[in-house]
Amino acid sequence: MPLPIAVLISGSGSNLQAIIDRIESGAIEAKIVLVASSAPGAFGLTRAAGRGIPTRTIAPEHFCSRDEYDQALLDAVTAAGARAIVLAGFMRILGPRFVRAFPQRILNIHPALLPSFAGTHGARDAAAYGVKISGCTVHFVDEEMDHGPVVVQAAVPALDADTAETLAARVLALEHRIYPQAVAWLAAGRLCVNGRKVTLAGADTPLAAVEPGAAYLVNPPLEQGF
Ligand code: GRF
Repeated sequence: MPLPIAVLISGSGSNLQAIIDRIESGAIEAKIVLVASSAPGAFGLTRAAGRGIPTRTIAPEHFCSRDEYDQALLDAVTAAGARAIVLAGFMRILGPRFVRAFPQRILNIHPALLPSFAGTHGARDAAAYGVKISGCTVHFVDEEMDHGPVVVQAAVPALDADTAETLAARVLALEHRIYPQAVAWLAAGRLCVNGRKVTLAGADTPLAAVEPGAAYLVNPPLEQGF
């Protein structure tokens, strides 16, 4: 049976779109039962409605406290029948009330290689720092920001010619690959969490298979003799 999931967004929803596409292609055995946005008019709501997915806007400014907001979100996802939560550009921190209701059932994607550059501007902060390699991280959500156990990470080079925008775009293209994959693993019940360590049931991955033909990502490329 497909896993019923709720996707929480605040903006464009390109990751939501990537997940919808993989569900429709049959690569993810899940059903999106609700897309909830913290921001009215978020484009992700339009994407969802276009595919016949129920949507809600639950805006924090309509609530007196974070706890009340969390409760409203929790009521909405529970009423929709969600059994797991996917944060896709959701620009709010979920409080303990919400997080404890879905232990190891909430995924988030962050546009940097955690634990580096946690926070709202991960991609921009990594570019400003001058890193040579950046990337993205899918992790389980716990009660600290950008902190829960890591499910999958992917790296991209940061080139001299990059601006914050071009680097973020390169990272985003990878997000659209690793996030649907992580959701597929969750839906298939293959993610095993042991403390901070997440392993993939049924996988015994040799190093050479991690990125075929490029087991190690080194940027800039090393010169002859090194
Ligand atoms: C992504 O970069 C994601 O990593 C971050 O917010 C952005 C959301 O983009 N959490 P989109 O709304 O999925 O297009």
